[in-house]
Amino acid sequence: MGPLSLPILISLMFCVVQGNPQLRRANDRQGQCTYTFTVPSPRESTCTEPGEAMTAMRDLQRENSVVKQDMDAMKIRLSLLEKVVNGLLGEEGTGQSTSSAQSFTDAQVELQRLTLEKDEWESQRGSLEMAYSDLLKEKSSLEEEKQRLTERLEKVQQRQCPQVSETSRNRDQPIPQRQALNNHGGGARTSSVQGKGGPTELSRWGADGAGYLELKSELTALPASRMLPESHATSRDSENSGTTGCGELTWVGEPTTYRKADNIAGKYGVWMRDPEPASPFTQDTIWRINTVGADIRQVFEYENLDQLVKGYPTKVYVIPRSMESNGAVVYQGSLYYVRRKSRIVVKYDFKTESVAIQKELVDAGYHGKYPYSWGGYTDIDLAVDEMGLWVIYSTENAKGSIVISQFDPKTLAVKQSWNTTIRKQTVANAFMVCGTLYTVGSYSSPTTTVNFAFDTHTGVQKQINVPFQNLYGYASMVDYNPTEKKIYGWDNYNMVAYDVRLSKM
Ligand SMILES: *[C@@H]1O[C@H](CO)[C@@H](O)[C@H](O)[C@H]1NC(C)=O
Repeated sequence: MGPLSLPILISLMFCVVQGNPQLRRANDRQGQCTYTFTVPSPRESTCTEPGEAMTAMRDLQRENSVVKQDMDAMKIRLSLLEKVVNGLLGEEGTGQSTSSAQSFTDAQVELQRLTLEKDEWESQRGSLEMAYSDLLKEKSSLEEEKQRLTERLEKVQQRQCPQVSETSRNRDQPIPQRQALNNHGGGARTSSVQGKGGPTELSRWGADGAGYLELKSELTALPASRMLPESHATSRDSENSGTTGCGELTWVGEPTTYRKADNIAGKYGVWMRDPEPASPFTQDTIWRINTVGADIRQVFEYENLDQLVKGYPTKVYVIPRSMESNGAVVYQGSLYYVRRKSRIVVKYDFKTESVAIQKELVDAGYHGKYPYSWGGYTDIDLAVDEMGLWVIYSTENAKGSIVISQFDPKTLAVKQSWNTTIRKQTVANAFMVCGTLYTVGSYSSPTTTVNFAFDTHTGVQKQINVPFQNLYGYASMVDYNPTEKKIYGWDNYNMVAYDVRLSKM
């Protein structure tokens, strides 16, 4: 065996996310580690891929096993030699010929040589093993770095180009950018977050990046019949609406799918209409927030359902601080949400694009203390129904059972609270209808039920059994719209809605 090519280990260079912001690591001449973080140029595609690190590792493993075989063979030779030497030593004791003495010396020399060789091989093997374990460590730290970079990439894409998810799927069509945005609302409302670069930059960051494609989830083509099953007007006037009527929830229909999110940022999310819209917004305006990631700040506004389906937002708002998970609601022209890693409820006014008021929800568990069963920091969930604005959460005192509070939407003061005995972490989601809290049993089972009802008028809690479908197996948001008498849901990238029926009271 020739000298081992250890330098290949040292000179390995990795590209983490090809075609995207890249982290490189290499050793310089002094043997020190150097890191290079590179922002992509459109044509950069010549880097070593992480796959090559795997190949190098496999080569090492192979070399290691060859060394081991050689060493085993040598051990056998050594022990044979030792026997010969011992035999000779025995003969020497009995006074043998000079030729025997000569072969004894030869054997001793050979033994010494072999012993030296063995030591050398063993030390080489040791350094191979060390190099191998270093590579393993490097691989796992690279994987962490890749993860971090992927998250950062998402963030960068969202900042630089808030419409990337919208434009990428319509890559072959003209991108309705500034004109569409500025025409809307008589020019009074201008886009606050258009990317600095315009279409060129968009295509660089959005459509062409290989890493972006990696992030982009598969867009399932939905049958046309499922996309726009009914006009909004029809659904508002449908048999079960009777907009002022209240009653108990008796039936939830099959979900209708309106849109599938384009990329991983939309695995979870919030989408809804404002049940009591304030000018300049209308009952057709749709609001949407992708809620994957640590920096959830963008709120997409669509003129109507058709624009949502086509992927053309009217405007993108950037709220001042990140929101936590997907408990947000839109009500009377404002977005109510929980600030990240806090129990602070924020009211953000869309018209003035500013925070109107924010208030701590005293004692509420947050950031993973009392989430719904699917987790995701769903500790504090806002809700709207015929009675107004609610918040669904838990506290230390309540020991994880659901607490319901009614908010004054102007001051965010808690008007009244109720204790239930429904453990928050055992249910998948909750929503309010006519002052009654309803919980959903499972977020993943295709056929689950609305399983508890707690009536705040009477304080009575009961078990119920109203079938509820999770069409895509990961329902992260379930919210009721009292004006439309519909439940809006976000199920594994898919924006869905359910008709409901209420009993006559
Ligand atoms: C709810 O339970 C907590 C803890 O037992 C108690 O301090 C609080 O007063 C109760 N609230 C209501 C409205 O009953």
